[in-house]
Amino acid sequence: MSLGNIILTGFMGSGKSTIGRVLAKELNTYFLDTDNLIENFENKTISEIFERDGEEAFREKERYCFNWIKNNVRNTIISVGGGFPIFIPEIKEAGTVIYLKVDFEDILKRMNEEEIKKRPLFKDIKKAKELFNKRNEVYEKLADYIIENKDIKETIKKIKDII
Ligand code: S3P
Repeated sequence: MSLGNIILTGFMGSGKSTIGRVLAKELNTYFLDTDNLIENFENKTISEIFERDGEEAFREKERYCFNWIKNNVRNTIISVGGGFPIFIPEIKEAGTVIYLKVDFEDILKRMNEEEIKKRPLFKDIKKAKELFNKRNEVYEKLADYIIENKDIKETIKKIKDII
């Protein structure tokens, strides 16, 4: 991979981290997940940050993370939190953006109790569905490429064809 970063966007549970990890391994490059980065910087889980500091504080940490990536990270596969492109529309400045598109019904199938617990904005499914409907358009607008993520292997192949 002789290019900048590859940034995977998409709704919660769309497979960004799973795909990013496998892809990085196959391409023999680094993988970075912004939620993990923030948790490590803060030494708190995402849920703790939302509970103690609030969503606005979390978005500030995402912004900090974006600037750090833009200035320091190259040739890396990056998975960003579901709200990242919504709050940071300049996301393309940090790399090539690939939106992993998934139906809400498929996301629901993948989410178990454990996964929901980690995601403060998924606790209320009705609200999560509304958020999903609202965000899709933004994800599409801010992406260099859109890939329907139905099957991990297929998706990885499609990404490899692009880059
Ligand atoms: C969020 C998505 C989460 C995490 C936080 C907020 C969102 O990341 O950043 O809970 O606003 O959609 P995942 O997309 O990895 O679940």
